[in-house]
Amino acid sequence: MDIRFLGQSAFQLTTDGVTLLVDPFLTGNPKAAVQAGDLDPDVIALTHGHADHFGDTVGIAQRTGATVVAIVEIANELTGEHGLENVRDPNFGGTEVFDWGWIRLVPAWHTSTTPSGTVSVPAGLVISIDGKIVYHLGDTCLFSDLQLVGRRDPVDVAIVPIGGHYTMDRHDAVAAVELVGPKTVIPCHYNTFPPIETDAGAFKSDVESQTGASVVILEPGDTHSE
Ligand code: NI
Ligand code: MN
Repeated sequence: MDIRFLGQSAFQLTTDGVTLLVDPFLTGNPKAAVQAGDLDPDVIALTHGHADHFGDTVGIAQRTGATVVAIVEIANELTGEHGLENVRDPNFGGTEVFDWGWIRLVPAWHTSTTPSGTVSVPAGLVISIDGKIVYHLGDTCLFSDLQLVGRRDPVDVAIVPIGGHYTMDRHDAVAAVELVGPKTVIPCHYNTFPPIETDAGAFKSDVESQTGASVVILEPGDTHSE
């Protein structure tokens, strides 16, 4: 599987069976690695409704026919307000099964309002793909239930926000890694805007000295093969 970082919290996971796009905020993203029109996903999954995650979801889905997975209130906006037809609408604990794997929504501690004003709650995404478990934490602060995901499905790759201000900072993110217990950590949600500037190299040093995980720092556009 290839995990390509597209900037902020946007990632593209690619295997032989599927191209999965998470949180495609590209238009207006100063660190975007690609333009929305360059992407051709089969599935788009959203952690929550904030503009730096919801991003180009509607345009990409309209153009490509991609199936969108989003928590029920956002899913209802996508079908009702934006006219998308291929939308899955789980809530926490729900698992959306596909022929290539599955996506489960788990809690995150944050807020969530879409650009059109739909209020919901934010999620993390647990993704089973290519025989691996990828846990995209979404936007969240540190909280103890992060440890519950790995009890059921040991996490291979955790995608973790480290920028602070809107999410946990790089110090709390080290504790989050201890709770999640992944093999590999990819930091995100930092250095896109001044309030979330941080030192990813220091995060990597701290994680690798204090936990058993390895940190892979991706610049926007970089790909990690897992
Ligand atoms: Ni947010
Ligand atoms: Mn965000």
